[in-house]
Amino acid sequence: MPKYLVVSTSGNPDSNSRRMGQVAFEHLQKRKVDCAWLDLKDLDLPLCDADKCYGIAGAKALHKAIESADGILIAAPVYNYDVAAAAKNMIELTGSSWEDKIVGFLCAAGGSTSYMAVMAYANSLMLDFRTVIIPRFVYATGDAFDGNQVSDKKLLVRIEQVADELVRFTQALRG
Ligand SMILES: Cc1cc2nc3c(=O)[nH]c(=O)nc-3n(C[C@H](O)[C@H](O)[C@H](O)COP(=O)(O)O)c2cc1C
Repeated sequence: MPKYLVVSTSGNPDSNSRRMGQVAFEHLQKRKVDCAWLDLKDLDLPLCDADKCYGIAGAKALHKAIESADGILIAAPVYNYDVAAAAKNMIELTGSSWEDKIVGFLCAAGGSTSYMAVMAYANSLMLDFRTVIIPRFVYATGDAFDGNQVSDKKLLVRIEQVADELVRFTQALRG
């Protein structure tokens, strides 16, 4: 049976992308698929130095979590018209563990103009690791949230759609 992982990459304790990831995770749990949650902010990760970083406990735990998943949803903040550096660092720390994974994106942004922010990151996953990218990106701005909740009903539907697409693609490719 395929395994799924939702990974939150924001370091902000008040993160909107984490809220989106939690909606997706709860939806996957309701579907009774084998799904895990991982929050990078709990792992005390080093920056990739291509040397000692790989031996650090958090990096090893991250590597194991990525390697054991078939389908992965990345919840990421948009910083400077790109996904945040923490999400890039995650790939640098774990490298080939992304080989042939199926990956979807949930992005939180401040404004509406950075909606292509995920493209360079998605390209690098495809080019480096033949990752299959779900062609449905969820992108949300701050007005879709109320306190701790995702309040925009259309956004809730879109998050569930991308989670469903992750399952559909992963089952089709992994059986
Ligand atoms: C350093 C920095 C850079 C940002 N750059 C952008 C940007 O280029 N485009 C945008 O729409 N929002 C930008 N934002 C706003 C964030 O995307 C927004 O706060 C979002 O909620 C971050 O995700 P998070 O809440 O999950 O941490 C930036 C925020 C920070 C702190």
